[in-house]
Amino acid sequence: MTFIPCMLASRSFLLHVCQQQLCQHSAQLIKEADISRYYTTLLTNMAACSRLISRLTVVTGGGSGIGRAVCQRFATEGASVVVADRNEESANQTLELLSRDHKGQEHMALGVDVSSKDSVEKLVTNIQRRYFQPPSVCVNAAGITKDEFLLKMEEDDFDKVIEINLKGTFLVTQAVSKALVSAGAAKGSIITVGSIVGKVGNIGQVNYSSSKSGVEGLTRTAAKELSKFGIRCNCVLPGFIATPMTDKVPDKVIDKLTAIIPMGRMGEPAEVADACAFLASDDSRYITGISIEVAGGLFIG
Ligand SMILES: NC(=O)c1ccc[n+]([C@@H]2O[C@H](COP(=O)([O-])OP(=O)(O)OC[C@H]3O[C@@H](n4cnc5c(N)ncnc54)[C@H](O)[C@@H]3O)[C@@H](O)[C@H]2O)c1
Repeated sequence: MTFIPCMLASRSFLLHVCQQQLCQHSAQLIKEADISRYYTTLLTNMAACSRLISRLTVVTGGGSGIGRAVCQRFATEGASVVVADRNEESANQTLELLSRDHKGQEHMALGVDVSSKDSVEKLVTNIQRRYFQPPSVCVNAAGITKDEFLLKMEEDDFDKVIEINLKGTFLVTQAVSKALVSAGAAKGSIITVGSIVGKVGNIGQVNYSSSKSGVEGLTRTAAKELSKFGIRCNCVLPGFIATPMTDKVPDKVIDKLTAIIPMGRMGEPAEVADACAFLASDDSRYITGISIEVAGGLFIG
């Protein structure tokens, strides 16, 4: 991405840059709304600078929603990104979206099922084979929902959600940390993705909220155990974010939820990615074991 010092760039010049860059990505007509959105993103990216230059990162669930936004943000900040997802097609689609404006940036997409120890170990081995080092930043964004009331939930639907959301986070965190420790890496940042509902519960999500409470406990314990190896471990707790996961939620439920969010709207995946970029970077070098809510003020207190 073209670097323009914020202080010197006029809005019209930036709009021109936005237009040029949008043209590179799309042959379609550019609407004013698109330009405004892109303008905001461009300013955010410039302000964020390049905190992840030379960092190798892996993002599970990178093929969609929050994971995809994290991959895009990390790439913009200069990282090499491994997009890891069960859905290889969507992982490859994310790969196509990643910027490569920093020297030495090399991205790749890999298939993984985070609930399988074998698959997770293969992921880490393949990364090390390709880059000759383990990833020093890992974001655990793979996750699913299988909603039902407690009185009706099938055991299998409880197990499946725990297997992917909680055990998956354990397997990936363990495999990446083991690789970092074996390699004698100087530092690492592992980011887990919990949920605000892990704190407050949510009707119809006994499996999901349990898995997400577990993710927070796992994160705090990992932070205590891994600090001596220079590895930090923190959690982001998204509220209600507009992604394919929440597309499944009926409109009337979304309306009710939006009404109780102090900021009055659902979040964007890029807003969760902002928090992940902070936790991945040295800007958070003295922070470990915490959870950051990205929820527009939902359930403050
Ligand atoms: N969207 C929200 O409002 C919200 C709120 C709180 C927490 N979260 C959490 O954020 C994370 C990302 O959610 P999202 O909204 O982007 O969902 P999403 O459905 O858009 O993306 C989830 C991704 O995870 C992948 N995945 C699922 N199972 C996998 C497995 N076994 N192995 C590897 N990849 C797998 C999917 O293929 C998909 O690409 C999840 O952990 C979710 O629980 C989301």
